[in-house]
Amino acid sequence: MHIARTIPELREFLGDSRQAAFVPTMGNLHEGHLTLVRKARSLGEVSVASIFVNRLQFLPHEDFDTYPRTWESDCEKLRSAGCDLLFAPDEKALYPEPQTCKVHPDPLLADTLEGEFRPGFFTGVCTVVMKLFACVQPRAAVFGKKDYQQLMVIRHMVRQFALPIEVVGAETERADDGLALSSRNGYLDKQERIQAGQLSATLRSVAQAVRDGDRDFKAIEARATTALAARGWKPDYIALRRRSDLQLPTSGDSLVVLAAARLGATRLIDNLEIDV
Ligand code: PAF
Repeated sequence: MHIARTIPELREFLGDSRQAAFVPTMGNLHEGHLTLVRKARSLGEVSVASIFVNRLQFLPHEDFDTYPRTWESDCEKLRSAGCDLLFAPDEKALYPEPQTCKVHPDPLLADTLEGEFRPGFFTGVCTVVMKLFACVQPRAAVFGKKDYQQLMVIRHMVRQFALPIEVVGAETERADDGLALSSRNGYLDKQERIQAGQLSATLRSVAQAVRDGDRDFKAIEARATTALAARGWKPDYIALRRRSDLQLPTSGDSLVVLAAARLGATRLIDNLEIDV
């Protein structure tokens, strides 16, 4: 695996092929990321991953400073997954001057759910992804469905700017108890890790209620929120939304249920598409 630390090094390796398949990450890689890399390998001539912890998408009180940086093991994992090129710029290389030009995604899509609880988050994500796309110039890019809203925001950005990039969504990898794999799972202590499967179990119970014919979505969300809170979680939202644009559903829409909740000091997110 070749490692490029700067944009010129990256461009030198890639030449003008524009046939790369790309997986942007913030490192601290787990099996979920490696599934994305394997998917990328099947989509392009060259598989490229990036590791960059993007300050722009963290709020001041969030975990930018403590976000786990696990360089050696990340490289080992990427090599074992067959990644051809790792782009790992430092802040000076990616943002040589303060990044004052930013990409503000559609507020309808980006200011709800995660955007409501983490204002500016998707501006940070879109800005860095746009910049990484400009650097790598991939033919395809792979994002996990675990970050469902992020995937939708990026798809929309790519469409709106007519970027010649196929955005591919990959299914969420889960532990045996249903917990969606996430870098932030590493923050959970032993007891919290035992409890953590409750989040996906709650989403499954919401999905079951809908499949059973219940259409009082507000009541379903409220029941799920109360049940999770009773187990010691602090839910930010449990929301049934229309799959196409994450707005409130009307009858006949394809649905997804999305949730964010805090267990101790750890904030976890998850979602489930509901096939009725
Ligand atoms: O999903 C992530 O890890 C990040 O939001 C991303 C897409 C790498 C942008 O920093």
